[in-house]
Amino acid sequence: MVYEARDLINQRKIEHLEICIREKVEPEGASTWFEEITLLHNPLPEINLNEINTSTVFLNHEFKAPIFVSGMTGGHPQAKKVNMAIAKVVEKLGIGMGVGSQRAVLKNKDLEDTFSVVREYAPTAFIVGNIGASQLVMEKYDLEMLEKLVEMVDANALAIHLNPLHECVQIEGEPYYKGVLERVKELAENLSVPVLLKETGCGFSKEAALKAAQARISGIEIGGAGGTSFALVEYYRALRKGNMYAARIAGSFVTWGIPTAISICEVRSVTSIPLIASGGIRNGIEVAKALALGADLAGVALPVLRSYSNGGVEGVEEYLRKLIDELKITMFLTGCSSLRDLRRIPLVVSSRFNEWLKQRKIDLDFIRNKSPA
Ligand SMILES: Cc1cc2nc3c(=O)[nH]c(=O)nc-3n(C[C@H](O)[C@H](O)[C@H](O)COP(=O)(O)O)c2cc1C
Repeated sequence: MVYEARDLINQRKIEHLEICIREKVEPEGASTWFEEITLLHNPLPEINLNEINTSTVFLNHEFKAPIFVSGMTGGHPQAKKVNMAIAKVVEKLGIGMGVGSQRAVLKNKDLEDTFSVVREYAPTAFIVGNIGASQLVMEKYDLEMLEKLVEMVDANALAIHLNPLHECVQIEGEPYYKGVLERVKELAENLSVPVLLKETGCGFSKEAALKAAQARISGIEIGGAGGTSFALVEYYRALRKGNMYAARIAGSFVTWGIPTAISICEVRSVTSIPLIASGGIRNGIEVAKALALGADLAGVALPVLRSYSNGGVEGVEEYLRKLIDELKITMFLTGCSSLRDLRRIPLVVSSRFNEWLKQRKIDLDFIRNKSPA
């Protein structure tokens, strides 16, 4: 890929894409904590692999499998190609996707098609628009502007991304979060489509999830720690710009955040809100674990981008098919004929996982039984 961009926001977004493709942006010392969970093998599943049903309903939309490609890009011809490829595949597989931040398009209408291409190639899929929380406060977008973002992709929902760490470690960051919740609430009450809150690699605590639920949002995407780290992405960007001071600060925070598996438990301990688990989910076993803990969908970003970079549309399709097939095998090996069954299977967590739950007064059996299937 060759990258050039016309303005600052786009330049930055293109640098993010390029760094995520070329550099190691999943830090060594961080983990999702899915490895701390064991789903018990069932040698007597009493079902047939080819009869397993992975369909589900999320926010009134039917999914053939509980998979969502988390929002990444838009705003540049190269980004348009990535969005088009992902859209073709999600339509074919009956799953969903988000677009990256649509902020740039509010400043430059010419970029619209880099987002709207998604609806063109995925006419029936679940599509989520995207805008940043701090920009929502700083740039004071009115309802009409935000409805335009929804219209642009004929979105089924709009995600507001929360990225306080990223705003701190990004050289041009805007770490302004005062008043965010009030803006989110206003939007949740007035926008024509459901509003989701999503993190971008640091996860949600139960306290944050409760506040989010009280703001009347319709869903949460966890974006937990253990996958792509935007502190690490910014570390590389700062290095490239020769800004060692910024690189060192970003470097200190690469493992910051709540591990994805833990974050699912945190959120589920306080709310049964529709929930997408994302952040470091890389295979179908982890998808099954996320659902067994109480998530409704599993979201993936980085591996989809890399599959596109290595193999185009076919690469994306192969990766997402693999995820779904691995999920089916995991369901078979645990005797689950439908996703609902995943909430009932036995699982064992490590003492480290248990200790977190204990300190945070989270009862795993209670949240698993309570979560709607
Ligand atoms: C290249 C790239 C760009 C991203 N851009 C956005 C964005 O514009 N808005 C957003 O909400 N999240 C964005 N994300 C975050 C993802 O949606 C997701 O929360 C995060 O990458 C964790 O998932 P992963 O570990 O599977 O990559 C981006 C991720 C990547 C890899």
